[in-house]
Amino acid sequence: MVEKEIVDSLRNLHDLTKTINSSLRIEDVMKVICNKTARLMKAEKVLLFVLDEKESTLTIHSKLGFMDSDLPIKQFHNIQSFDHCIVHKGTVITMDEVLAADQHQSLRQTMPFLFDMFFAPLEIQGEAYGLLGINGESHEFSPVELEIFCSLGSQAAIAMENANLYQKLHKTFLHTAEALAEAINSRDPYTGGHTRRVQNYALQMAESIGLNMEEKEALRLAAILHDIGKIGIDDAILRKVDRLTAEEKRKMNDHPLIGAKILGYVEEMKEVIPGVLHHHEWYDGSGYPDRLAGELIPLQARIIAIVDAFDAMTTDRPYRRASLAAEALDILDQNGSSHFDPELLTIFRTLQTYVK
Ligand SMILES: [Fe+2]
Ligand SMILES: [Fe+2]
Repeated sequence: MVEKEIVDSLRNLHDLTKTINSSLRIEDVMKVICNKTARLMKAEKVLLFVLDEKESTLTIHSKLGFMDSDLPIKQFHNIQSFDHCIVHKGTVITMDEVLAADQHQSLRQTMPFLFDMFFAPLEIQGEAYGLLGINGESHEFSPVELEIFCSLGSQAAIAMENANLYQKLHKTFLHTAEALAEAINSRDPYTGGHTRRVQNYALQMAESIGLNMEEKEALRLAAILHDIGKIGIDDAILRKVDRLTAEEKRKMNDHPLIGAKILGYVEEMKEVIPGVLHHHEWYDGSGYPDRLAGELIPLQARIIAIVDAFDAMTTDRPYRRASLAAEALDILDQNGSSHFDPELLTIFRTLQTYVK
């Protein structure tokens, strides 16, 4: 695969993902739906349930106007089907119709308000995804109110489906990026699965140091694509078992620059470049390509440097056997202050998965 093809596939996949709507975080959307419902239906309390048809459960997903303590039970079982549209029926749904009769009595004691609420199904083309509920005195809804309530239910269902589709698409994008990186790595004498492992270690680090969602995703992609620039390195150098000559080493050391250049063609990969470009910098400033030192090395790159070295040490190479995790950690520690960020290294050590 040539550089241009990689750029095109990454760009197309990313564009498609964006088209579906990259800002569609299900939690944010549901919050907007709850607020809109409260305003349009003049309700102070709104509940949004998600249906799991297979398990026949309804789970509270979002709430407005309720305290956590108001909702001691979050999931209900043995749900009766409610896939009718309220506009056709001219009516709204109540909990008595949805919950199995044997739950009514105890629920009337713990959450009596549920039975005074009215619900619209989250429905697209006859398929129910959940329920949107509002509080209210028992009254006849006017046809207009029914229409609004029903369309809010449908909007919530569409938003939910969009968010699910986006997540699936994003997963596909990651898998493709991963397959691409792994195909490039397979030219290298690495044991298979390097990309996946480096990604997993990086994500665990992200979790430990509390990166936010966006930072975590950028780190994940940078970890997946860190060696993508090896596409531009000759097999003769990449697969050479003997020591590289100075000239070969110089060419090999270009791979972070080539990787950054490839990703530079894809606007959406902007956040990923620092990790790819600087994953071979050393903490003491003796690395490449820019001889950055200390915290001037982007965080992504400092993390990738550690997890990349750890994985390289714990997998077999043609010229040596793999070290055990504990040995590898000790070797990393010995190089701690010169090569790696010592604080991040300490955190990596505490990730119990590796210290066996
Ligand atoms: Fe590398
Ligand atoms: Fe690597």
